Amino acid sequence: MCGIIGYLGERSAAPIIMDSLKRLEYRGYDSAGVAIFDQDAGDLSVVKSASKVDTLVERLTEEMPAGRVGMGHTRWATHGRPTLINAHPHSDCTNKVVVIHNGIIENFAELRRELQAKRHVFVSETDTEVVPHLIEENFKGDLVTAVRESLRRLRGAYAMVIFSQHDPDLLIGARLNAPLVVGVGEKEWFIASDITAVIPYTKKVLLLGEGEMVAISSLGPQVSSMDGASVKPKIIDVKWDISQAQKGGYPHFMAKEINESADAVSNALRGRLADDGEVTLEEFGFTDRQLLKVRDIKMVAAGTSFYAALLGKYIIEDLARIPVEVEPASEFRYRQPIIDQDTLVVGISQSGETADTLAAIREARRLKAKVVSVTNVVGSSMALESDGVVYLHSGPEIGVASSKTFIAHITCLYLLGIRLAAVRHRLDPTRLKQLTAELKALPAAVQKVLDRAEVLQKLARKYAGYRNFMYIGRGINYPIALEGALKLKEISYLHAEGYAAGELKHGPIALLDKNFPVFAIATQGATLEKMVSNIQEVIARDAPVAALVTDGDHVLDEVAADRVEVPAVSEFLSPIPNVVALQLFAYFVACERGCNVDQPRNLAKSVTVE
Ligand code: G6P
Repeated sequence: MCGIIGYLGERSAAPIIMDSLKRLEYRGYDSAGVAIFDQDAGDLSVVKSASKVDTLVERLTEEMPAGRVGMGHTRWATHGRPTLINAHPHSDCTNKVVVIHNGIIENFAELRRELQAKRHVFVSETDTEVVPHLIEENFKGDLVTAVRESLRRLRGAYAMVIFSQHDPDLLIGARLNAPLVVGVGEKEWFIASDITAVIPYTKKVLLLGEGEMVAISSLGPQVSSMDGASVKPKIIDVKWDISQAQKGGYPHFMAKEINESADAVSNALRGRLADDGEVTLEEFGFTDRQLLKVRDIKMVAAGTSFYAALLGKYIIEDLARIPVEVEPASEFRYRQPIIDQDTLVVGISQSGETADTLAAIREARRLKAKVVSVTNVVGSSMALESDGVVYLHSGPEIGVASSKTFIAHITCLYLLGIRLAAVRHRLDPTRLKQLTAELKALPAAVQKVLDRAEVLQKLARKYAGYRNFMYIGRGINYPIALEGALKLKEISYLHAEGYAAGELKHGPIALLDKNFPVFAIATQGATLEKMVSNIQEVIARDAPVAALVTDGDHVLDEVAADRVEVPAVSEFLSPIPNVVALQLFAYFVACERGCNVDQPRNLAKSVTVE
């Protein structure tokens, strides 16, 4: 969704805002804008661009506005097309109040009519523009009161930064159903959509709670609730490193992040899996007694995280023998799910802010289920609103299409599965010992796939000209076929479908011909022979076949397929090395096709609207 950043301090605001906007651009890149106030000259500069942050930076580099307080926005359009007029910041009639916003104000039409009746003039099509006008209308001498009264009128979701020339020593932030954090530096403060924007400047982050507002002056931040009660700030130290939010010599963040997959496994395992297989999950927070009460599990997630959740079903049902249902979070919430206090609801989300998933876990809690979130972002809304958390510890992921965090999610689900199995004594000690050793060896296997990137690059060159792709897998690699197809769709805009290989003959095989290649996951496993038969069926329809096979496996030697070898690991853990190969393939196809890998059209990394 939109990225927002506000700054108040002793330095020049514009360069800091520009730099932060670059780091927030993965949240949206339809248009961008800044507002900077020069306290000495009493001047407010608002500069916007109808395209990406780069264009804005070019414009600002020619004439950098002076001032030590300001805000910047990068937009993912919801209400109103991505035009200059609709770019944030938005102002009131007097151009004294400026507002940037992420979220959707659901009652904006009604508020707009009310304000127009009071002669307020609107220039944009956005929902956001009602906010500065409301503040203008409510201002009776005290800015904080005017903002609070205005916010109380809003329905929907917002994270906002607000500035007014009526009180130029103040910068105000507020949130409801959308993320917002405050970076606390040395005599300087940052209000941002997420931590990646502020980590170059400070590791100290104040977490704003739902429905809270922060008013920052040179004396520091004051947090309050919407009814004006003062709130004790929650401050955390962020462990992320700034180098993790830079490309580090790679052409794209996605290339760097795929290459961090082996580390993603190690980081998710670190300190959590003892040699004897005992799993300790720091913030998980459930006692053995509570876990023993769990009768069934529901997993909710969106996008790539949904496919991680599907894998979670295979993993947890196999290890702990607890029934698991997986559902897109956007569906779960609206269909009166059957859950109660004996259900464990697991929310899977990289950002911890996806509106659909957040709403689903809130609904689950309302229905008295216990909720655990598996997420990458410390202090994210889902982390704060769950009974327990399993953090991915992957560091920031900037590429819009998830890669390393998908790997970390799966790794955490293995750990969760073992933990749940342990309390039920479901795991045979020999299998546990073997699984532990295999998990510990997994980073090395992933590294081997990464070391063979060239093979996938060559394959991508050969296949980049096709318009349609079918991915097929069986068993625990079925969700990997789905994720392989999603990755290709997202970043190369090619049509790709994922199918359970056995289902191919029940319909989709009708699509296949010489122009419709199939990517088969044919690594070692219980159903490999069946998969080989499915591949034969595909070849008989003249469709080109690329296949992942296990190192040294000759099973496809006699078959006219392009083979990509991946290291031998057990079938149970094979989704991880296999998906790394598919991520690399999608990445190279997108590069061959000249697509914007890190910022695919129409997508945003963190979708904070339903
Ligand atoms: C967006 C992104 C997807 C992502 C999904 C879920 O749609 O474009 O890449 O998988 O959100 O994000 P989450 O942060 O909840 O994992």
